[in-house]
Amino acid sequence: MNEILDKARLAMRNARRVAVLTGAGISAESGVPTYRGSGGLWSGFSSADLASPEGFARDPHKVWDWHNDRRMSLAQVKPNAGHLALAQLEQQLQARGATWTLATQNVDGLHQAAGSTNVLELHGTILAIRCNGCGLGRRVGFEPIAELPHCSCGGLMRPDIVWFGEMLPQTVWRAAVRSCQECDVMLTVGTSAQVYPAASLIEVAAENGAATIEVNLEPTAASGLVTYALHGKAGTILPQLV
Ligand code: OAD
Repeated sequence: MNEILDKARLAMRNARRVAVLTGAGISAESGVPTYRGSGGLWSGFSSADLASPEGFARDPHKVWDWHNDRRMSLAQVKPNAGHLALAQLEQQLQARGATWTLATQNVDGLHQAAGSTNVLELHGTILAIRCNGCGLGRRVGFEPIAELPHCSCGGLMRPDIVWFGEMLPQTVWRAAVRSCQECDVMLTVGTSAQVYPAASLIEVAAENGAATIEVNLEPTAASGLVTYALHGKAGTILPQLV
């Protein structure tokens, strides 16, 4: 592990263009549950009911109740050492003229809270809502939301999160793909690499010859593909890459 860590650190030190993909595991040490595995959100709740357009159409009250509970718990959490290390790496790389693009599947806003500036939110954000009818969006942060919020057009508002079966925001997605096509180092952190198209970013970077570094508690669907697999807690490993 130490030898792999040294090699990953060297790759990061020499990198000119870095692409990063994060998932729920980076926020786990802040107390935010991941989605899969024991204790994961989708082992206790139905993603078809709570995170799909069909589920929202069937029972918007249920979807909003659940999201409001999540919003309330996320309002309490703080970035951890992993988020802070990524923000520090961004600063270091930019200071020496390298580029850094961080794409996250998380909707919790913790990268920005840690000071990361160039963040692509592939799956949207729980800090915003948008109209299910006209599409008009609004940032609401963690302010309380009416039980069933409505838009001025009369449409129902929904969390501005990408649900199962939906397209990713295309401008954000294209920017993430471009960063993986152009990078010389790609770092993935805390993702099971099971959800597409986000997971395909790792393949894009690998196909383009980038060195790929995975930081995850356990081996993932992408481990066989990556150059350096570092298994352990993001909050312990990432500060060692700074
Ligand atoms: P998952 O829950 O699928 O995977 C989280 C990964 O983080 C697992 O592989 C864990 O082993 C790892 N992990 C847990 N704690 C960790 C720690 N302290 N340090 C490092 N790794 C740790 O979450 P995602 O891959 O992010 O989509 O899931 C992708 C998408 O599926 C989510 O964005 C969400 C979900 O359905 C939407 O809500 C649209």
